[in-house]
Amino acid sequence: MIEILKSPAEAARWSDALRQGGKTLALVPTMGYLHEGHLSLMREGAKRCDVVAASIFVNPTQFGPKEDLSRYPRDLEGDLAKCERSGVTCVLAPPPEALYPKGYQTYVEVEGVSKGLCGDRRPGHFRGVATVVTKLLAMFRPQVALFGEKDFQQLQVIRALNRDLDLGSEIVGMPIVREPDGLAMSSRNVYLSADERGRALAISRGLRSAQHLQKNGVVQARELVMAVRRELELSQIREDYVELVDAQTLLPITEVKAGQAARLLVAGFLGPTRLIDNAAIGG
Ligand code: PAJ
Repeated sequence: MIEILKSPAEAARWSDALRQGGKTLALVPTMGYLHEGHLSLMREGAKRCDVVAASIFVNPTQFGPKEDLSRYPRDLEGDLAKCERSGVTCVLAPPPEALYPKGYQTYVEVEGVSKGLCGDRRPGHFRGVATVVTKLLAMFRPQVALFGEKDFQQLQVIRALNRDLDLGSEIVGMPIVREPDGLAMSSRNVYLSADERGRALAISRGLRSAQHLQKNGVVQARELVMAVRRELELSQIREDYVELVDAQTLLPITEVKAGQAARLLVAGFLGPTRLIDNAAIGG
């Protein structure tokens, strides 16, 4: 049976006992409503460590006042069954006040890589992510923590806080898991109507076409970005951003240099639903 923990104190006690038994721990933080993308992280955790823990927590501090916190999809029962099938033996599923009790006043701000892209469009978002992930890494102290490249900027933010605060976990980034037709899996895909779901394919189509162009010698950011924009426009997706950046620093680049690892990142709206995706370019 899967063990369910409800507080940071329980998580710390549980992981202490595990360490005393000489076992290694992999942690997979999530906000639940799990899909294959999440499960791929859990399965990889089970390959790398003796035991896998997950957290299922819709973290209020990373949602803006006009965002979808109250309607974020939830299915704890279904999620626990998926966790169990994917090799997870322990799930932290706390109420919000267990992580943010009355009088809570400490936040983690990562500077450089939180700037630009989603950092600019969602003020306070990465502060909330960095805070909750720091708390999770501190309470579980896992050998390994796994995150998806789907949220590429988030992954760089987490790498930075783990390094800068000497938290001592290994941060593992995992490839984006897609639906058979190319749409990046996301808990937010349930918001899409049938029409929007069809149009959403333009995002991955645009990214693939930019990758194809780059492989055929196109190095100008402007042209690669245009390839994505064209697809978004044709499918009437409202662009939030399309940007080519250096994959490590996330600073904008104007062209892909030989051997340089770049990343093309997209955010767009279909109705009220905001989707993100990205792809490796060069490197
Ligand atoms: P959530 O959106 O639930 O995602 C949890 C983890 O699953 C993240 O590391 C995310 O990058 C990864 N993931 C989501 N979709 C994926 C896909 N299609 N392929 C591969 N990995 C995917 O990201 C969060 O929650 C939160 O911000 C969190 C880190 C838990 C902090 O609250």
